[in-house]
Amino acid sequence: MDKQNAEYQVTVLTSDDQAGIEFCVSYLTKAWKQTREESLARITECVRRDEGNLCIVCKSGTQPIGMVLFRKGTGLKLPHPIYYWIQGLYVADEFRNSPAVLKIFLLLRKTLKAEGVKEIHLGVDPHVPKLKTSYLAMGFKELGVKSSAIGHVYDILQMKL
Ligand SMILES: CC(C)(COP(=O)(O)OP(=O)(O)OC[C@H]1O[C@@H](n2cnc3c(N)ncnc32)[C@H](O)[C@@H]1OP(=O)(O)O)[C@@H](O)C(=O)NCCC(=O)NCCS
Repeated sequence: MDKQNAEYQVTVLTSDDQAGIEFCVSYLTKAWKQTREESLARITECVRRDEGNLCIVCKSGTQPIGMVLFRKGTGLKLPHPIYYWIQGLYVADEFRNSPAVLKIFLLLRKTLKAEGVKEIHLGVDPHVPKLKTSYLAMGFKELGVKSSAIGHVYDILQMKL
């Protein structure tokens, strides 16, 4: 498969997309080391668009291969008020370094901008400079603020929409 030229369909996750829901629930359960029920509850908030929560899923053909979540509020104690929080960004190994992640961000930005969101934030592990560099290339800027979620320190990046 030529992942650079493959077709990627990127959509806002809806309740009728069972394959998309299963993909997101499985990823969160594994990555966040939480129960399936907790993951399903988080994804259900997104599908219902409760308080602006959102999940975007990327597919190659009918196969889900990537996702991102958005929420208003980080739940973190930070020295800077940060409300518009990106989390759960994930692309399956075999589709890394392909247009998939950019397409996910494109729809995320378009959807949130249309809803009046002015800026988004995410936390990146400072020990993964290549990942930080790719976010900076996408248009994120360093805020110079750190968070210490789940025992790790993250640099917080911001993108104006
Ligand atoms: C975040 C993610 C979607 C980015 O995907 P992508 O834009 O296609 O980019 P890549 O995965 O190719 O990563 C970009 C570079 O960062 C490096 N990188 C990514 N994650 C890394 C990690 N945890 N440790 C070390 N290097 C890492 C990659 O090796 C790559 O470097 P290269 O170009 O020299 O190969 C993808 O890496 C992913 O799904 N990671 C697992 C989930 C995750 O960590 N999400 C949180 C991000 S804050």
